[in-house]
Amino acid sequence: MVDENRVVLELPSRPENVSIARLVVAQMAAQLQFTVAEVEEVKVAVSEAVTNAIVHGYRGRAGIVRVEVCARPGELEIAVSDQGVGIEDIDLARQPAWSTDPERMGLGFVFMENFMDSVEVESRPGHGTRVVMRKRVGSGYGSAAASGGAV
Ligand SMILES: Nc1ncnc2c1ncn2[C@@H]1O[C@H](COP(=O)(O)OP(=O)(O)OP(=O)(O)O)[C@@H](O)[C@H]1O
Ligand SMILES: [Mg+2]
Repeated sequence: MVDENRVVLELPSRPENVSIARLVVAQMAAQLQFTVAEVEEVKVAVSEAVTNAIVHGYRGRAGIVRVEVCARPGELEIAVSDQGVGIEDIDLARQPAWSTDPERMGLGFVFMENFMDSVEVESRPGHGTRVVMRKRVGSGYGSAAASGGAV
């Protein structure tokens, strides 16, 4: 399809690669008519998903985090997948302030849900996790908060 741009990244599960995913996704988002605030929201969402894959999915072990970014007219779609430990209870994991790590806030999914229009999570314990997020151009949802609040 001519009017669809799709980029796939395979990133080793190293913390420094979160910023590479964020940069590529931001450039893809910039190809669509998102506001600066919306691009910032997309960057936060992808950072949270990639960090989860590295920290929880692979638990510091070596693995590949796959990031698929698709910019199509009016919509950006991002899929982040790992072949790590997987999630036992997805509904519980998505609860605000719930974390398997007492050192963490348990807010990653909350950011993803607030900053994107949809977040789908598929996971199989022992096999891995895939998070698919979509954001539509012009939905405007959440942008005011990210840019410091509506005047
Ligand atoms: N890719 C993943 N693989 C395995 N478990 C995951 C994955 N992503 C999320 N989880 C589980 O879901 C929980 C909630 O994730 P969430 O990002 O909301 O919070 P957190 O990562 O614990 O804390 P924070 O994101 O605030 O640092 C995690 O504690 C973890 O148990
Ligand atoms: Mg997290």
